[in-house]
Amino acid sequence: MIASHEHVPPLRTDRLVLRAPSERDIPAWFERATDRESAYLAGDPIPASISEGQAWLERALEKAAVKERLLWSIDIHGGPVSIGTVGLSLKDPGISFVIGRLFWGRGYATEAAREVLRFGFEVLGLSEVGSEFVVDNSGSRRVHEKLGFKYVEKFIDESDGAECERHILSKRAIEEQR
Ligand SMILES: CC(C)(COP(=O)(O)OP(=O)(O)OC[C@H]1O[C@@H](n2cnc3c(N)ncnc32)[C@H](O)[C@@H]1OP(=O)(O)O)[C@@H](O)C(=O)NCCC(=O)NCCS
Repeated sequence: MIASHEHVPPLRTDRLVLRAPSERDIPAWFERATDRESAYLAGDPIPASISEGQAWLERALEKAAVKERLLWSIDIHGGPVSIGTVGLSLKDPGISFVIGRLFWGRGYATEAAREVLRFGFEVLGLSEVGSEFVVDNSGSRRVHEKLGFKYVEKFIDESDGAECERHILSKRAIEEQR
């Protein structure tokens, strides 16, 4: 199957456009992916060279095509470069996000994730979405709090020994908050 962008539906918020990743996102992806602190916090491997960007893109589009995981690139309306990504795994529903360091602390991760969660619950009909982060990731912890996620359990990530937490957000919990 030839993967293409059409499997990732475009989404919009007040400040952001969420769209399928494309080749023009590779330089910004490489900058985020080679930020050591960010890669550790995200639990992502650090690429050796920007040439790995094409494989990153193809993997993302293939996973979307087989409905394993949707990955959106995040743009600020009218902005020149992608500021990050937000991903939604569909088989065992889970969300993850990475924002470029220059754009931290402006509410973008929360705004993008909230829209993806709305899409997951209202359009895809998911009933629960999980998420995991290393215990010392205070920024991510705060984003999860703002989104309404609840603590489930601690666990050790066997790939690197990091102590992590699993949190969950259910559609019912969101409806009860309204
Ligand atoms: C975690 C991350 C996605 C947050 O993105 P962001 O756009 O800065 O998030 P937001 O601005 O929506 O919210 C961040 C919140 O955390 C708070 N915060 C940020 N760093 C913090 C820290 N070190 N300690 C405590 N709070 C912190 C901010 O003040 C903000 O809370 P507030 O709105 O109450 O002021 C971003 O820092 C990132 O990409 N980090 C590296 C990759 C990563 O950790 N991904 C998540 C893996 S689970």
